[in-house]
Amino acid sequence: MRLIEALRSRGYHLLPLPVYESLDDLRKMLRPFSQKTAFVFNYCDGFAGSNMAATKIVRLVESLGFKHTGSTAETVALCIDKSRAKRRLIAHGIATPRYQTFGQAAGFYRYRFPAIVKPVADDGSIGIDAESVVTTHEELLRRVEYVIRRYRQAALVEEYIPGREFSVSVWGNDTLWALPITEINYSETLDPLRRILTYDSKWNPGSFDYQHTPTCCPARLHPEERKRIAEAALQTYRAIGLRDYGRVDIRYYNGIPYVIDINEVPDLSPDSGFPNAARVAGYTYADMVEQILLFALKRENWQWKQPILKSLSPQPQMANVSSD
Ligand SMILES: Nc1ncnc2c1ncn2[C@@H]1O[C@H](COP(=O)(O)OP(=O)(O)O)[C@@H](O)[C@H]1O
Ligand SMILES: [Mg+2]
Repeated sequence: MRLIEALRSRGYHLLPLPVYESLDDLRKMLRPFSQKTAFVFNYCDGFAGSNMAATKIVRLVESLGFKHTGSTAETVALCIDKSRAKRRLIAHGIATPRYQTFGQAAGFYRYRFPAIVKPVADDGSIGIDAESVVTTHEELLRRVEYVIRRYRQAALVEEYIPGREFSVSVWGNDTLWALPITEINYSETLDPLRRILTYDSKWNPGSFDYQHTPTCCPARLHPEERKRIAEAALQTYRAIGLRDYGRVDIRYYNGIPYVIDINEVPDLSPDSGFPNAARVAGYTYADMVEQILLFALKRENWQWKQPILKSLSPQPQMANVSSD
């Protein structure tokens, strides 16, 4: 795995601790380690088919007294439940689409159509397909019923925000930096209601959606728009309490950046959004992974090495985007 190789290439001693079935696997694997000398690089967004299990992993690591990279168990749990995360955003005055949660396929949706129906606590576009965007109450309740039955969780229904979609990778702790912004290019999708990242567009290379949703980083934006979008991501990072690194997904419409999703353990596989944004900012893959670790070590006062931060903007809290 590239992440492990990258850290090894920087001289760290690393032991992969894969968790497949249960938390006991992890408890056993951690037993030989000391909390004083071992630091956990958490790269788990669920196991045994459960997204929520990501919280349990971090909770166990924390309860055993180990320090780790990335957000706390509490923050991971907050992000996994999209309705809770949205309540937090609203409390901080951050724009997010108006929404309602449905625990059953009944009731009246109060906001505007079109709407999008998603599982309330999943990620990776699980449960997101061409049928997710609905335009009538009948369609909405049918889709809510499907999500509840198929994914065994409540459905989150929110206003569908047209416009452009951006993904903002952010890292740091006391001082935050937004990496160059990525845009998902939907120009090849003619139907405006199909301009969404479906499960296929993320995971199924043979599909139309996968082949017709290219990304562009740095996104073409006027400096003031870039600032507005980056600022929404930075505010989100602080409001949610993310640590070390994270990614915020945004739909931008009528000059307003609407936060639609918070990725507290963003994908770090080499061709994914976060590493790509870091690459555009001048970080090799190994630089990027080490930088995340260094943020975490510094936060915990484990100062082994100084953070690199060589190519970041000298102005903190600004998107560091090279000219388009
Ligand atoms: N309110 C919305 N308006 C428009 N598109 C949305 C909205 N919510 C989600 N989407 C689309 O669906 C995709 C997946 O939704 P998201 O909430 O990011 O779920 P996941 O956690 O599975 O990534 C987004 O990348 C976006 O394309
Ligand atoms: Mg998302």
